[in-house]
Amino acid sequence: MPDLSGKVAIVTGCASGIGAATVRRLRSDGAEVLGTDLDAAAGEALCAEVGAEFAVQDVSDRALWPQIVARAVTAFGRLDILVNNAGMVSGAGIGDWDDEAMFAAWDRVLAVNLSGTMVGCRAAIAAMRDNPGGSKGAIVNIASTTAMAPLPTDVGYSASKGAVRVLSKSVATWCAQRGLNIRCNTVIPGATMTGILAAAEVQTPGLIAAVAKTSPLNRLADPSETAAAIAFLASDECPFMTGAEMLVDGAMMAIHPGF
Ligand SMILES: NC(=O)c1ccc[n+]([C@@H]2O[C@H](COP(=O)([O-])OP(=O)(O)OC[C@H]3O[C@@H](n4cnc5c(N)ncnc54)[C@H](O)[C@@H]3O)[C@@H](O)[C@H]2O)c1
Repeated sequence: MPDLSGKVAIVTGCASGIGAATVRRLRSDGAEVLGTDLDAAAGEALCAEVGAEFAVQDVSDRALWPQIVARAVTAFGRLDILVNNAGMVSGAGIGDWDDEAMFAAWDRVLAVNLSGTMVGCRAAIAAMRDNPGGSKGAIVNIASTTAMAPLPTDVGYSASKGAVRVLSKSVATWCAQRGLNIRCNTVIPGATMTGILAAAEVQTPGLIAAVAKTSPLNRLADPSETAAAIAFLASDECPFMTGAEMLVDGAMMAIHPGF
């Protein structure tokens, strides 16, 4: 298990699924954690249970990000880890011809999944640069296998996750070239049994059964299995890993689709 004692983390989308599992995992590995979510009741309950701080946050609210980071630094004295996990599906394909609904869904999913991640990186780097003892940090952004094999039924979700992969590499190399000792990596989950998949099932009936079959393990991931990869990338165990991607997909992307 990575040792995260003495480290301070922010985890967005902490109220459910992979975010909740990540808060639990980082706490059990020794980190202090500020969890954030739109869902105040569930986020507050989860964080109280594991001894984490909680703040209500819409990650697409740019003005709020510096306040969230300041809250972690004020509470715990530094910021070592940001997990940009909050995300949503939009449920709109390219040929959904209701322009108003389509463009609203597109704008929202890009604002949350992509812009929220970018603004979070900016705010975190600004704090990580000023850490006591010198600049240091680890950012983990959450993409999706839909960034590699997109959903025809959700162009905005798939495109936003594809962009998160490239965003992470740009952030990683910007920090590396400036000697900031701030790493940025991407975790790419496959089908994981969480609320977002339940929501996607409503948009695309049969999706859960179909995606379970796409892993040769023939099952969905438990969110704790994704959280383990996030904790590793957030830790000091992998100082040469930056601009990298870690698939947690039960070999979904490793097998020929015909088999
Ligand atoms: N579950 C999967 O199969 C799967 C696969 C690939 C990638 N992912 C990604 O994993 C991440 C976590 O998703 P999950 O599966 O745990 O889903 P989830 O729905 O269980 O959890 C997402 C959390 O994010 C919060 N959230 C949504 N919009 C927000 C916003 N604007 N600001 C703050 N919080 C917000 C929700 O309230 C919720 O608590 C997402 O980025 C998702 O795209 C999930």
